[in-house]
Amino acid sequence: MTILVTGAAGFIGSNFVLDWFVQSKEDIVSLDLLTYAGNLENLSSLNANPHHHFIKGNIGDRELVSQLLQKHQVRAVVNFAAESHVDRSIHGPGDFIETNIVGTYHLLESVRSYWSDIDEQHKKDFRFLHVSTDEVYGSLNKTDPAFSETNPYEPNSPYSASKAASDHLVRAWHHTYGLPVLTTNCSNNYGPYHFPEKLIPLCILNALNGKPLPIYGDGQQVRDWLYVKDHCSAIRRVLDKGQLGETYNVGGWNEKANLEVVKILCSILDELKPKSDGTKYESQITYVKDRPGHDRRYAIDATKLEKELGWKPEETFETGIRKTIEWYLANETWVNHVVSGDYKNWVQKQYA
Ligand code: NAD
Ligand code: TYD
Repeated sequence: MTILVTGAAGFIGSNFVLDWFVQSKEDIVSLDLLTYAGNLENLSSLNANPHHHFIKGNIGDRELVSQLLQKHQVRAVVNFAAESHVDRSIHGPGDFIETNIVGTYHLLESVRSYWSDIDEQHKKDFRFLHVSTDEVYGSLNKTDPAFSETNPYEPNSPYSASKAASDHLVRAWHHTYGLPVLTTNCSNNYGPYHFPEKLIPLCILNALNGKPLPIYGDGQQVRDWLYVKDHCSAIRRVLDKGQLGETYNVGGWNEKANLEVVKILCSILDELKPKSDGTKYESQITYVKDRPGHDRRYAIDATKLEKELGWKPEETFETGIRKTIEWYLANETWVNHVVSGDYKNWVQKQYA
């Protein structure tokens, strides 16, 4: 048996696939369109692994997905594939509608058709796990309790609205057709292989290159940070033990304001790679125009996942961010390849 992982060459998908082979020998078929965010180099350590099969393709391609499901007798699908960056969704929402909503619809239909035709035992064991975000719940005030699974959906950006729509489709395919689905809604991830358009990797690399560290608005927006490997272990746990049709919030109880995050990473860089001119990395912090519709605070209550499925994160923000910075310092080749690609052109346009 095999699992099909979509979006496997992206940040979280690649961490998931790499971790999977540490835990299991079960085969993985990795499906990824290799958009600007997909990077096959993330999976290069698996090049000689006969249990890993990479296919370039679109989750919306029903013929391809149906063929993969049948050929590999897939027993579970983990859907990471998405357009994932809020700023890009503001500048051009079309791809977000196309992949996150229409693509998920086609994927659900391909999976439903395959699942309907398999034998009873296989049908009972089959899982479709949809990876989503806490951003679907909208924005919290300072004193609001953290998001629980019963919070209403109030998405504010084209990205979060498209993810919310995909979550609703997944829910409906369970209620209407009985498709055995699970959904996870996770807080902001950080860690190895994170594409440097997002706050943490962008600031690590800009700091090292002597460039400005752009803080939107007053920098007091709060995000709840989770080390990517902890997100991957949560997904494995939900895949194994989750109740069908349920959603699980995933988070590490690590709320931090953006400015604090950037100051922490600057101080770790001061220690690990002091600047030759003796100045501090913090001096590169630059306040820039705020993001339109910028959500003020996200916070995740992961009690359900912890109590019902016994999951716990291993890293605190302090241990995870140090590991992350060490990874970026140790992986110069990966960094150079990423920075010389499309990312560079796009960011130059944004911050010129
Ligand atoms: P990412 O942008 O790094 O990776 C997305 C991957 O999907 C890329 O490899 C891309 O090539 C691929 N892809 C895009 N469109 C595709 C299509 N039509 N068909 C096949 N592949 C396609 O994103 P990420 O940060 O790894 O996020 C993965 C998933 O987790 C997303 O669904 C995202 O909404 C969700 N999520 C992310 C975070 C986070 O902090 N990054 C937090 C919670 C949930
Ligand atoms: P980001 O990493 O884009 O994730 P998300 O928007 O999904 O939360 O941004 C994290 C936070 O950092 C968010 O509040 C926006 C802010 N931010 C900056 O202040 N400067 C930046 O250059 C970027 C990319 C983000």
